Amino acid sequence: MTMVCLNDFEEYAKKHLPKTTWDYYEAGADECTTRDDNLLAYKRIRFRPRILRDVSINDTRTTVLGTEISFPVGIAPTAFHCLAWHEGEIATARATEAVNTCYIASTYATCSVEEIAAAAPNGYRWFQLYLYQDRKLSEQIIRRVEALGYKALVFTVDVPYTGKRRNDIRNQFKLPPHLKVKNFEGMFQDPPTSQEVYGTPANTLDPSISWKDVSWLQSLTRLPIIIKGILTKEDAELAVEHGVQGIIVSNHGGRQLDGGPASIDCLPEIVDTVQGRIEIYMDGGIRTGSDVLKAIALGARCVFIGRPAIWGLAYKGDEGVKEVLQILHDEFRLSMALSGCRNVAEINRNLIQFSRL
Ligand SMILES: Cc1cc2nc3c(=O)[nH]c(=O)nc-3n(C[C@H](O)[C@H](O)[C@H](O)COP(=O)(O)O)c2cc1C
Repeated sequence: MTMVCLNDFEEYAKKHLPKTTWDYYEAGADECTTRDDNLLAYKRIRFRPRILRDVSINDTRTTVLGTEISFPVGIAPTAFHCLAWHEGEIATARATEAVNTCYIASTYATCSVEEIAAAAPNGYRWFQLYLYQDRKLSEQIIRRVEALGYKALVFTVDVPYTGKRRNDIRNQFKLPPHLKVKNFEGMFQDPPTSQEVYGTPANTLDPSISWKDVSWLQSLTRLPIIIKGILTKEDAELAVEHGVQGIIVSNHGGRQLDGGPASIDCLPEIVDTVQGRIEIYMDGGIRTGSDVLKAIALGARCVFIGRPAIWGLAYKGDEGVKEVLQILHDEFRLSMALSGCRNVAEINRNLIQFSRL
């Protein structure tokens, strides 16, 4: 089977994964308006391409937090990779190491942070963190990822409660018994019961999290902190004031608040407010190299893909994730060349038709 674009991997995954698994990965909240708009929003944006600029050489490299990556696309944190491929996150880690980009490992991984680090010792990794009511659990995992050489903490702030995903409720979605949220094996006081939600006991997430917890995290660790789930200039300004090193503009792939904006639509006001004081990344709906180009032109330093990496896993494990990243890389390079950009530094807002936005 020749895979030409990311949609081919989506089709494959839909055909081959069990329905409850597919439904879990595909899910958006409520009516899925925001999930779908994440994709449609790119289609509303048009380029202002430049010509005759000698694009015989295109350099797609960039840096995030000072580390070079091969192109401005990394892997967003998504849960339960072992549902898509038996090696799960170990395969994802190998693929991102091979392609030399950034992998944000999820708290809800089905392999432990230790297994992920061992599988790709030279990979560049960040760790995504949720805060639990029992802060000791969060503290313990921070100590583990520090010792393992993860390079940043990505604090996800858009899940005070889990969004309402209708098919997961209809399917009574549960992790199969042979899979575990490996990072917390044996750490929760009560073993998961019928009250379990997405692999952990119900009500373990802390809905009282606030900016105070960002200061608490900073008192605990010297790792850079990146806040994931910001959609407004007001919150971006607060993030800068609280001294974090980066933000990810994200609506969680439309799985939390339905009716919120597409993440690409939030980027301009946030970039204008932050004015280069910290790095801004984004995720949500990236499916082509020209989507990447649009996000970089609107001021993202790097973008992250969620579902497409899972489709790659479902197709062929680490080889599949590598193929997804390679296709996106090739498409990005081609879009750069066709719009007259020779390197990432040349990509800027002049590339976008603002009259249409
Ligand atoms: C199946 C699935 C599981 C996810 N799990 C997490 C998670 O554990 N932590 C987190 O911060 N975000 C999680 N997300 C959100 C992603 O990090 C990301 O924001 C989103 O997938 C980007 O949209 P895309 O799938 O259109 O690329 C998850 C998303 C999906 C689809």
